[in-house]
Amino acid sequence: MQYFIRSGATARIRTGCLVVGLFDDGSSTGPESGPGSAVDDLLKALRRAGDLPRKAGETLVVSAPDGLAARRMLVVGCGKRDRYCIKQYRRAVGSAARQLQRLGASDAVFLLATPGMDAYGRARHGVEAAEDAFYRFDELKTENKAKDLKLKKLGIHLDDAKGRAQAARGIEYGEAVAEGSGVARRLANLPANRCTPSYLASFARKLAGKSRRMKADIIGETQMKKLGMGALLSVTAGTDEPARLIVLNYRGKPGGKTVALVGKGVTFDSGGVSLKPPPGMDEMKFDMGGAAGVIGAMAAVARLQPAINVVAVVPACENMPSGKATRPGDIVKSMSGKTIEILNTDAEGRLILCDALTYTRRFRPDVVIDVATLTGACVISLGHHMSGLMSKSDELAGKLLGAGIAAEDPAWRLPITEEYDQSLKSNFADFANVGSREGGALIAGCFLARFTEGLEWAHLDVAGTAWRTGSDKGATGRPVPLLVQFLLDAA
Ligand code: BES
Ligand code: MN
Ligand code: ZN
Repeated sequence: MQYFIRSGATARIRTGCLVVGLFDDGSSTGPESGPGSAVDDLLKALRRAGDLPRKAGETLVVSAPDGLAARRMLVVGCGKRDRYCIKQYRRAVGSAARQLQRLGASDAVFLLATPGMDAYGRARHGVEAAEDAFYRFDELKTENKAKDLKLKKLGIHLDDAKGRAQAARGIEYGEAVAEGSGVARRLANLPANRCTPSYLASFARKLAGKSRRMKADIIGETQMKKLGMGALLSVTAGTDEPARLIVLNYRGKPGGKTVALVGKGVTFDSGGVSLKPPPGMDEMKFDMGGAAGVIGAMAAVARLQPAINVVAVVPACENMPSGKATRPGDIVKSMSGKTIEILNTDAEGRLILCDALTYTRRFRPDVVIDVATLTGACVISLGHHMSGLMSKSDELAGKLLGAGIAAEDPAWRLPITEEYDQSLKSNFADFANVGSREGGALIAGCFLARFTEGLEWAHLDVAGTAWRTGSDKGATGRPVPLLVQFLLDAA
């Protein structure tokens, strides 16, 4: 899609479709929609006929609209004017984009922001929401594939030309985030028989090949053994699929700050010997959502080339039962030297992450953020809207929460205090890999905290946000927007 900026009189915009938002009080979005404007006259006539969309997201197409140079006008319901913010704007853009796809227009101009929204936000969130709506995953279908998108050019309207430079930056940024989210969604949507640890590794290698500043380093099982990664190796023990530790190193500012992103890459989580129940087990192909998010963020980094160093570390493996699999009660030695009693082989994410976190120390990172579809308990506490954020650093937590709000990819902070940590007590090893069921997300956070002493570290549990279930099943691309925002803020 080619995005562009338009300003000036709306009646004179020559386009396949002018997209206008309508609030439930009858007023509309856009600068020149007041009394006497061509758009307003049209809306009045439609209202008289009782044809206007009322509810947020509803749309109406008007062909050959009177007084407009546009070939069509698309009216999008936007709900209440006083509640119209970035979130509602993104929803309106999404509904409009889906409708445009059906219409088959080849170009369109969006007049969906209110005069109060700045040029940067209109452009950036407009691009992200449109790309989100255009996303399809049908590379593995041979029938009923989505038709090619006829829409080629999408304009974002500005009230005046002054905001042009800002809007251009917004488009560039929005496109990078959308590309990163698209990468994350595709990797997570791919099934486990395609998206194996080796596939993720070769994908990362290709990504690094596109940027002079990015390098990929892939570590195999022989080297993992040498490094003493007993926790990671215990998870991959039951599968025939070889594990990989993927490292992507981006150097945007030699001598500057380094942020490490660590992503859980369990390409399929059967639970291992502590086998999961059958319902919904297919969704455990999404258990590399953290890895997908981290690799997606690196794709955005490769495109934006920010002045900061970022290293992505992705432990990737499968969690399967077999005669070689790890048993409940087995005790393993992690790379840090600490011993772990594995009481439940389904708590595998923390086992691969702890060794990856220890490995990450060699890059002397100023900040470490791990991202993981770590616990069902996080989904129970926060549902599907907020990612769970755990950190002992108020400063880092504050920055990540702020990035989530700015990027419309919110997180909510959960506690990790000593009381929860005590639940990990083991009679036979330094500690166990699980504690009580209650507060499971926080206990998992405490487990990881035991491997991040002295680091400025935060943990994002994206079990509820990385994918949607039900009829709309599929990866969301979260938390790519949050991560990219955080990196740009830090640069
Ligand atoms: N990948 C799962 C977490 C998960 C479950 C994500 C459901 C999304 C939906 C993780 O490896 C897991 O199995 N966690 C266990 C931990 C428990 C055994 C302490 C869980 O949450 O049940
Ligand atoms: Mn599991
Ligand atoms: Zn898992």
